[in-house]
Order: sequence, then C-alpha cells, then structure tokens
Amino acid sequence: MQTDLCKKLGIEYPIFAFTHCRDVVAAVTNAGGIGVLGATGFNAEQLEVELNWIDERVGGKPYGVDVIIPTKYVGKGEQDPDKALAMAKAAIPQEHRDFVANICDENGVPNLPVDKPFEDRISMTDATSTPLVDVALQHDNCKLIANALGTPPVHVIKQVQDSGRMIGALCGKAKHAQYHIDAGLDFIIAMGGEGGGHCGDVSSIILWPEVVKLAGDIPVIAAGGVGSGQQMAAALALGCEGVWCGSIWLTVAEAATSDPSKKSMFDAGSSDTVRSRSFTGKHVRMLRNNWTDAWDDANNPDPLGAPMQGMLTSQATARMREYPSKSQGISFSPVGQIVGTMNETIGARDLVMELVTGYLDSTERLTSLLPES
Ligand SMILES: Cc1cc2nc3c(=O)[nH]c(=O)nc-3n(C[C@H](O)[C@H](O)[C@H](O)COP(=O)(O)O)c2cc1C
Repeated sequence: MQTDLCKKLGIEYPIFAFTHCRDVVAAVTNAGGIGVLGATGFNAEQLEVELNWIDERVGGKPYGVDVIIPTKYVGKGEQDPDKALAMAKAAIPQEHRDFVANICDENGVPNLPVDKPFEDRISMTDATSTPLVDVALQHDNCKLIANALGTPPVHVIKQVQDSGRMIGALCGKAKHAQYHIDAGLDFIIAMGGEGGGHCGDVSSIILWPEVVKLAGDIPVIAAGGVGSGQQMAAALALGCEGVWCGSIWLTVAEAATSDPSKKSMFDAGSSDTVRSRSFTGKHVRMLRNNWTDAWDDANNPDPLGAPMQGMLTSQATARMREYPSKSQGISFSPVGQIVGTMNETIGARDLVMELVTGYLDSTERLTSLLPES
C-alpha cells in the first residue's frame, strides 16, 4: 500500500483525512495516514493556534492544510479583505436577507439577542485565504497545501513549491484537472459527485480513471464516497495513489461534531443528501433539510453566487449557533452519500485500521480469484 506519494510524504498509508477538527488531524497523522486541516473557517491568528496545537501532538509527522480560493467569485482579484467584503455586501439584495430571516423564523430559530448583532464576514476568497497559506508554511510539519474550487493562483503555487512543500487541488471534472496539470500542481484530488461538501456531478468511478489517464505522472488522490478499505482498494485499482476522505471523520470519537448532528448522520441513508447551492452559492452535497428545500422551491429566490450566498448562510448560522437546540430543522450538514454507512462512533485510529484491513481483505479476495498456476 506504500504508493510513491506515501514515500514522498513519509506516511505509512495513503489515507488523507480532510477535517475541520485538529484532534482528527493529529489522530489520523499519528495512525500512519495524513490529516489535512480545513482552514477556511479560521482567520490567520486562529489557524496559528490550531497548527501549534497539532505540532505539539504529532511528533514531527506530516499533516496538510486546505484552503478555498475559488477561480470565480464576485470580487475575484481584490486583495484587500475590507474592499472584498464591501463588494460582496453590495451584491446581496434585501429580498434575500429577508428570505433567510423568514426561513429561520418559520423553523422556530429565534432572532439574535440585541446585544449580539450580526456582522457580515466573508471567507473563501484570495484576500482571506492567502494569509492562511502564509501561516501554514511557517509550520515545518505542514507538508502539503490543497485548494478547493479551482487552481490556486500562480503566486501561491510558487510560494508553496519554493518552500519545498507539495501543492494540489480538488477537481470535479476532467476539464478542471487539466487546468491543474497545466499549472504544474504536484497532485490532484479527483472528487466524485457522491462526496460531501463542494462537488461536481460526475461519479467517482467515472472521474477517477479519467483524471488518472490525463494526469500521467502527477499523482491522483481519489475522493468522493470512500468509507471502507474495499472502496480504497477500488481507488488504487483504478490508478489512484491514495484516498481523500471527508465525511467519515465527522462521526469519529475525536470529531467536534455535536451529538445531534452525529445522530442526524447516523439516521440518514445514502439517498438523504442533495447537491445544493444554498450553502455557499456553489454546489455542495449536504443532508437535505428544510433549508435546502426552501431554496429549491421555484417560488422562492434563487441562491446567490459566491461569496454572497455564504454570507447569507452565516446570517442564519449566527442565529443557529445561539439557539442550537432549536435549529435542527435547518442546520447545515455537508456530508456525502457514504453517510448511509456511517452508523457508529469509533476512534480515528480504529477507523484508519479498518480501512487498512478492508483493503487487505479486498486484495486477498482478488488474488484468490486468479487461476492456480
Ligand atoms: C463537512 C465537510 C466540509 C468540507 N469542506 C471542505 C473544504 O473546506 N475544503 C475542501 O477542499 N474540501 C472540503 N470538503 C470536501 C472534502 O475535502 C472531500 O473531498 C470530500 O469529503 C470527499 O468525499 P466524502 O465526503 O465522500 O469522503 C468538505 C467535506 C465535508 C464532508
């Protein structure tokens, strides 16, 4: 199972764990895979705290950091965060603000207390993400940077590669993989439409080999729907150099996911997710609920683009955070179709070992099918 990519990164298993939770990053890295911290929800100071915490626990083992710098969004190219915020704010019609407030009201999520007014903030832009890359590169154990929603800007690619680290990006279709190849990225994460979070509509079993063929010597990591060692064996059989999983770490013991959210994932089947633009303005696979249904209704406003829809979402999230027990009907739960097999909480290390054992079972099974010589 030691692929070339494992050797380059100095990891035992080609298991990449995307997570927003530092405990999961440390646990997976310590178990022989590699944890990748989704940094988008943090500002630079917060990320510094998270990475220091991880550094103290991984004993020099590698981890990665993931950012989101989309290729297209309103305000693209603006490097000043205040100006980027002002441009996005100006592009949000009052009708949409009112609609979000109505969804919250109708679903019983109270208004924010008057002493805690809502303040718009943006994420997922050049202005907010490039400082996160600067912070990540200050940490020796951070060995890879990944970007979602497009090829990272040229200066970021150069900055990461000049520092001796690897930089890669996710793609949901072959055309996007070609942009990554042309830009000289070190690896590509091919993410099938069954995966949680931002995704395209091409399924993993079609996309992975398509991207492997295009990428030639550039390693391709398989994402989207991997929750078992058997699926991992399928990804490696199709030419991928590793698997990149996101959903399955949401319900491990170390995850910061709340108990009600874990329960909603345990209760969900593989057909209970939708690809919806209602979260960020770009398609995100998440659990279907009253929020996604409201935005899907043809009588209601269409979701805005990025980053405005994400700002609308945070208008609702601010209320939901204040009243979590009243928010279950509309709370955001990005997760992939693999949710149907996520039925219990186990530790992250045990989950890594389950993946490894399942992979070995698969390869043994395939070998047993060969004719005896
Ligand atoms: C809750 C959640 C949040 C995610 N956020 C990001 C993100 O910020 N950046 C990113 O590159 N991918 C993000 N993803 C996608 C993952 O990186 C990964 O590609 C995906 O989860 C793989 O499919 P799977 O969910 O079937 O494992 C997210 C996925 C989930 C489930």
